[in-house]
Amino acid sequence: MSQPLDGIRILDFTHVQSGPTCTQLLAWMGADVIKVERPGVGDATRKQLVDVEGADSLYFTMLNHNKRSLTLNSKTQAGKEVLERLVKNCDVLVENFAPGALDRMGFGWTRIQELNPRMIMASVKGFGPGPYEDCKVYENVAQCAGGSASTTGFHDGLPMVTGAQIGDSGTGLHLGFGILAALLHREKTGRGQRVLAAMQDGVINLCRVKLRDQQRLKAGPLREYSQHGENVPFGEATPRAGNDSGGGQPGRILKCKGWEADPDAYTYFITQAAVWKNICDVIDKPDWKEDPNYATPDARLPRLNEVFGTIEDWTMTKTKYEVMQICNPLNIPVGPILSMKELAEEPSLRATGTIVECDHPERGPYLSVGCPVKLSDNAVTVTRSPLLGEHTDEVLSKVLGYSDEDIASFKEVGAV
Ligand code: COA
Repeated sequence: MSQPLDGIRILDFTHVQSGPTCTQLLAWMGADVIKVERPGVGDATRKQLVDVEGADSLYFTMLNHNKRSLTLNSKTQAGKEVLERLVKNCDVLVENFAPGALDRMGFGWTRIQELNPRMIMASVKGFGPGPYEDCKVYENVAQCAGGSASTTGFHDGLPMVTGAQIGDSGTGLHLGFGILAALLHREKTGRGQRVLAAMQDGVINLCRVKLRDQQRLKAGPLREYSQHGENVPFGEATPRAGNDSGGGQPGRILKCKGWEADPDAYTYFITQAAVWKNICDVIDKPDWKEDPNYATPDARLPRLNEVFGTIEDWTMTKTKYEVMQICNPLNIPVGPILSMKELAEEPSLRATGTIVECDHPERGPYLSVGCPVKLSDNAVTVTRSPLLGEHTDEVLSKVLGYSDEDIASFKEVGAV
């Protein structure tokens, strides 16, 4: 069956996490992704966090499915020649080098346009134009510089980073969106363009509701934050809100049966206004349905600690799964805190391809996250990540048209 991006060829100059997540998504949608790596070295993540001696790491394998690997030293003369031919034969160049690296290599945007005016050049950088544009950035730096760390954690504790890789994988997603838009636009104009996704911008985008709250502060305390009920004054910036939803439907993480021994025996519980009466029945507080101190969302806001404390007295008598089984039929939104172990073992996630098992010649079977977006006509088959340089000869001959003699000479001078 044809795939949405069949016929699109990607020159994948990405490494580590942010860029590779983007090109992996494009590969899952059918693009031919040729990952260009330094001969003998490859993407640094291949040999980071190694758990099986001699094998590519999970870090690498889980970010580079469905790609081909071409080794190329783009700083040699012959390597530059091969790279030029690649630029002429690809639709999109994706890169996440440190600022200026491509220019230093001799492949800045002006040169790319000369070689292939249809080329889309897509970059992840830490920061957009401005005072920090020359800085190198990793995940947690982006979380800190994008407003996430300042608004995560408890108001009386340190700023906190989150386990979701919003700076890397989040920016990869943003970049993928930009590439698809540029490809569609090229259909109309025949021209490529530059696409930039800065990690700081991506994190700010994902923290949009916190900028909303920053502006709401002018109108007084944020009454949806539990610190309001605790009489802790607000400062000048959006504070850390702990596990408060902080939005229109207050929610918290509450203990469930077994919490003393199990670090994940918790549920998220949302006191959605529309089902307040059902909540009162479940927690055996029927009088709260009409009591003016509890009956309306506004009345409950200064009492969130008491309200959630009472709900927790009930959730502690149930497992997190029982809470879900009881609340779901009553339309009360709750969610168990699921550990990575539980997710890895969850049959329904295996059935949908969100968690997949792959086989790898060096490491054997391993689990990965499959494509998180499902298209009704285009199922994704996840194939293992390539070994370093596994497709060098294939790409040089079949895609770029080099002869066996050419390839031998490139190898002799260490260009591939
Ligand atoms: N052949 C020859 N040289 C190559 C090459 C190849 N195939 N691939 C990379 N290189 C060179 C680059 O040209 C660069 O050389 P230069 O410094 O002389 O210009 C060098 O390798 C190092 O590349 P760089 O991107 O600077 O890697 P780094 O390890 O120093 O920095 C990051 C890593 C992630 C901090 C940096 O790339 C970065 O800030 N990227 C943008 C933001 C980003 O994506 N961060 C998240 C990563 S998950």
